[in-house]
Amino acid sequence: MKVIVTKNYEEMSRIAADMVAEEMKKKEEFVLGLATGDTPVGTYNGLIEKCKKGEIDFSKVHSVNLDEYYPITPDNDQSYRYFMNEKLFNHVNIDKANTFVPDGTAKDPDAFCKEYEAKIDELGGIDVQILGIGRNGHIGFNEPEAELYAYTHLTGLTQNTIEANARFFASEDEVPKQALTMGIKSVFKARRILILASGANKAEAIQKMLKDRISTDCPASLLCLHPDVTVICDEAAYSLV
Ligand code: PGA
Repeated sequence: MKVIVTKNYEEMSRIAADMVAEEMKKKEEFVLGLATGDTPVGTYNGLIEKCKKGEIDFSKVHSVNLDEYYPITPDNDQSYRYFMNEKLFNHVNIDKANTFVPDGTAKDPDAFCKEYEAKIDELGGIDVQILGIGRNGHIGFNEPEAELYAYTHLTGLTQNTIEANARFFASEDEVPKQALTMGIKSVFKARRILILASGANKAEAIQKMLKDRISTDCPASLLCLHPDVTVICDEAAYSLV
């Protein structure tokens, strides 16, 4: 894994946006893998700015999101569909019909997961996947467990993640307890992966991820098996390495 350590969140975001933009310029029908959470917001702002300046064009871009709570409706302001509209899609020239976020209202989640996985393949795979990392080392909602799923699936959230995400809800009880998420193999289908981390609360996860041990106890540690991963993290997140 290539590691870039930045001074702060702003520099992390700028470098990530530059890298994504450079990749987008190479290919018109680009497939962008997206993540939610606080971490990628600065990167999305950078991409919005570049789009407004005419440096990048989303008109032929397809996007695929990592995960979504289940159940949740897209108009719920805590849904990841809502987040993506607000933080990126509404501000760039992407056709929303070309944006894919797992459907938190799917009646048959298992069938939906199979379709989602097939959609990724039909698009020809993801060119660049942006990832955050959980405080517990999760990627998407692939939480630390003895066994991890390979493909898109319905999963339960760990208590750690419910607590971490409770800040966005009125109370912890309101955090959905399940989610639809791409699996490890789905993420690995991406040709290039950028994993972003900022702040001291990610330091333990980054340390575990980079420690040269692979364990399902830290799902992000599996990323060292992928041939093209760049970690962009700030000094605080890198402080325990
Ligand atoms: P965050 O979440 O960007 O809000 O810290 C990252 C994650 O949990 O994957």
